[in-house]
Amino acid sequence: MNTEDLKKSYAAAYGQAAEAVYFAPGRVNLIGEHTDYNGGYVFPCALSFGTYLLLRKNGKPTVNFRSLNQPEIESIPLDKLTERLEKSWANYPLGVFAQFVKRGIVFTEGFDILIWGNVPNGAGLSSSAALEVVTAYALNDQLKTEFDRAELAKIGQKAEHEFALVNCGIMDQFASANGKKDHAIFLNCDTLAFELVPVKLDGVKVLISNTHSPHKLDSGAYNQRVAECKLAVEQLNNVHPLKYLAELTEARFNEISSAITDPVAFKRARHVVGEVQRTTDAVEALKVGNLTKFGQLMNASHVSLRDDYEVTGPELDAMAEEAWKIEGVIGSRMTGGGFGGCTVSLVKDEAIDTFIEKVGARYEAKTGLKPEFYIAEIGDGAKKM
Ligand code: GLA
Repeated sequence: MNTEDLKKSYAAAYGQAAEAVYFAPGRVNLIGEHTDYNGGYVFPCALSFGTYLLLRKNGKPTVNFRSLNQPEIESIPLDKLTERLEKSWANYPLGVFAQFVKRGIVFTEGFDILIWGNVPNGAGLSSSAALEVVTAYALNDQLKTEFDRAELAKIGQKAEHEFALVNCGIMDQFASANGKKDHAIFLNCDTLAFELVPVKLDGVKVLISNTHSPHKLDSGAYNQRVAECKLAVEQLNNVHPLKYLAELTEARFNEISSAITDPVAFKRARHVVGEVQRTTDAVEALKVGNLTKFGQLMNASHVSLRDDYEVTGPELDAMAEEAWKIEGVIGSRMTGGGFGGCTVSLVKDEAIDTFIEKVGARYEAKTGLKPEFYIAEIGDGAKKM
């Protein structure tokens, strides 16, 4: 759907023209997984697909939410903007309204809102962050609240915590708010200092492989990983004061890791400390054009997420392992939260067709699932259209 189609759908839904159209992208993470809520580094990029939001002020005491992707229509009175709905897609944008209220913003009238997104749902490409960030960006513009992009990301993250009940880190919302065309974001998730690193790769494409696995990273498994890392931090604090696992070098971790008596927490911590190092190394490698090294680090990241963090599962493993066998694949790993969703691979141009054909067929033979492949276009962060 293009913007004109969306405007027509808006007029059909609400009987009036939309006043403004906004967009925020999904993201793919190149390396640095499950490091964000541990104060570590991530290296995501915004995608060219994402979520569109059309709106107008409605002069009424209600905010109306409709989506072309979802059947439920929600009408929320202005005095109920901080109340989570029992079960509705609208919790994502509503959770953002709640954050504006919590920051002291008084809504004197409602909005008529229409959403449409083209990020594949449940693929681990941050369709929910795109929805949160597009809402935050739109409200910021409409209400002239002048929050900066980092604050809009934090608003989205809080909405996710309080209305989707996932204790996520900041990566997805930050990438959606701050992305830049043909760049990845090297982000320190503790300080939110970041650097945009060009990802214009000569003769190489970023290929996303969707497992279409039914196993999604549910909030339970995700929040459990967050809790296990917290336990590791608590136990390490007996020998070394720290706030986040990412504060430890691998060498220091090896010296003190026996303080983690819980064997599961130990493995989780080992992944995080190693992944932070891999992320820093990978960015260095990319900057000097050493794609081979970058690819090796991607592969090592997958292995660590499989063996120590245990968030891959048979489908993501099959997809990555089949990719590793193809000549011209520089590196391949799961991306995002895990369990189902997508892998991300760096693939030489001449190997793309073979990849899609061979990995596709072997993956399907192993899992019985039909995969889907997208060549990533790295796009800009949230914007008004
Ligand atoms: C999900 C979360 C992010 C991050 C990743 C794993 O996408 O929303 O905050 O933790 O998982 O790296």
